[in-house]
Amino acid sequence: MCGIVAYIGQREAYPIILKGLKRLEYRGYDSAGIALLNGGLKVYKKKGKVANLEEELQGKDLHSNIGIGHTRWATHGEPSDRNAHPHTAASGRFAMIHNGIIENYAQLKQELVNKGYVFHSDTDTEVLLNFIDDIQKNNNCEPEEAVRIALKRVVGAYVIVLLDRENPETLIAARKGSPLVIGVGKNEHFLASDASPIIEYTKEVVYVNDYEIAIIRPDELILKNLGNERQTPFITKLDMELAAIEKGGYDHFMLKEIFEQPQTIYDCLRGRLDATAGTITMSGVEKYAEQIMNANRIVMVACGTSWHAGLVAEYIFEELCRINVEVEYASEFRYRNPVINPGDVIIAISQSGETADTLVAIENAKSKGAIILGVVNVVGSSISRASHAGAYTHAGPEIGVASTKAFTAQLAVLTMIALTIGYKKGTLGQQRYLQLLKELEAIPEKVATLLQSVDQIKNLAEKYKDAQDFLYLGRGYNFPVALEGALKLKEISYIHAEGYPAAEMKHGPIALVDESLPVVFIATKDSYHEKVISNMQEIKARKGMVISVINEGDEQSIALSNDVIVVPEADEILAPMLSVIPMQLLAYYIGVARGLDVDKPRNLAKSVTVE
Ligand code: AGP
Ligand code: GLU
Repeated sequence: MCGIVAYIGQREAYPIILKGLKRLEYRGYDSAGIALLNGGLKVYKKKGKVANLEEELQGKDLHSNIGIGHTRWATHGEPSDRNAHPHTAASGRFAMIHNGIIENYAQLKQELVNKGYVFHSDTDTEVLLNFIDDIQKNNNCEPEEAVRIALKRVVGAYVIVLLDRENPETLIAARKGSPLVIGVGKNEHFLASDASPIIEYTKEVVYVNDYEIAIIRPDELILKNLGNERQTPFITKLDMELAAIEKGGYDHFMLKEIFEQPQTIYDCLRGRLDATAGTITMSGVEKYAEQIMNANRIVMVACGTSWHAGLVAEYIFEELCRINVEVEYASEFRYRNPVINPGDVIIAISQSGETADTLVAIENAKSKGAIILGVVNVVGSSISRASHAGAYTHAGPEIGVASTKAFTAQLAVLTMIALTIGYKKGTLGQQRYLQLLKELEAIPEKVATLLQSVDQIKNLAEKYKDAQDFLYLGRGYNFPVALEGALKLKEISYIHAEGYPAAEMKHGPIALVDESLPVVFIATKDSYHEKVISNMQEIKARKGMVISVINEGDEQSIALSNDVIVVPEADEILAPMLSVIPMQLLAYYIGVARGLDVDKPRNLAKSVTVE
């Protein structure tokens, strides 16, 4: 999720924290805040940019040698001043910042409300803070002990930093699932989500591990695990330049985001999918489950890559829910006079949540009585607010203009919705439902395995980087992956590429095939596989160069291919989350081989907020 910065030492804390937050702006965020300790706790926080916060603080007494700062990427509670961090505990003793998601926050909140706690924000963070505060008060224990007890009950991902009004010489931090780096200075310590706010002060850093708690004083750093056992801080020397740090050591944000997908798909499933219990929990969807189940049709409305996710979802919903699904380009849907009947369900899919065509399309549909579900990545965005309900993809900020991790997160959410509705409706039997839950739970691991074959794809990129045209072909669930592969290549390498249903070749496009044309087949083992093999033969017979994405041991495809990329097997419904990964990597490495700016391709914007 987003960014944390903290400082304790001899210097003025505010300038260090402010500059550190600016260093973290590249991660994308929606609000920012700072807390300082100077006599009392001073908390300043605002929706919007760090510069807004800076302006707000002009002229204030900001003297302090200890402080915490935060850039928020909202997950619970829309972007607003009240939901921005730091949050203050009910006792007034603590201020806290947090990156991550507390999955069991609702249960913890109910317990605290039952005890009379009042909340001033909609965030999961404030719940965790008051949970810590409550424990400290009831046990009259050291704050670090209260943190330790609390975190043993917390389910989710976090990095937290706590400021304690009664201990101006101490910061308390802890992490699980979200990053925390501690810079070790002379009689001072710097904390941040990555080394970019730290590197100008010290190159000696400690990477805090999951389930560790750090007690930090100017001249002391103590690490403990949740079992209260001392851990030895392992100091490493930073060897990355600032630019590299921002990209997590990757050459580009796009590559970093491709490699984040095991984690982002896991984050998307987190707190929702429980394959062991056989449950999917999506409160935003459950509210409208009856209407979705009984809808005459579902219309997926989106643009670009999100439209491709809608196309995959069409196949999944029709297969599992037996509901008629249409997939519409938002720009077409909004300008023609579509037939919308009350009770129709529109699923708006958007990473940014700000795509103008998608937003207007759903406003129009809503005015005609349709139910709008949003599958969006940015919490509190216009499309999410215009929807009746929905589910966030929790992929974190996507910086690269070409959408990658947001796409696979969209597929994960759409699959969970279809599984929920199909099972509830009875069109999906229990055995297949439970099998698909188990398979979906295994996808993050399979993506991680798949990403190990990156060198092979780098070589393929070198081999095909000078091609003038590409064709991408697939059938069924892999047809939208063919479209997505072609779009990625176009966006990133500026090579013309087209995606087609494989069977469509014989209706014209096969005239394009000759020995200069690479044809990418998405040919994972599924109910269409034999037909795809025949299409491969048709291309081969015309001397086309065949690059095929296959499962292990597919001898037929291997015999017909110039090059193969092997991906792990998965149920055909889930296969696109795997078969798209090589498409993303191939486009990325061809773009790099052609010396192009893969993070900011020419003519493109990350979010098309104009019509
Ligand atoms: C995809 O790589 C492109 N960046 C673009 O097609 C994008 O998917 C489209 O503009 C839709 O954006 P959205 O998901 O933010 O609505
Ligand atoms: N889940 C917390 C919130 O929504 C933290 C989000 C973040 O990581 O920035 O406020």
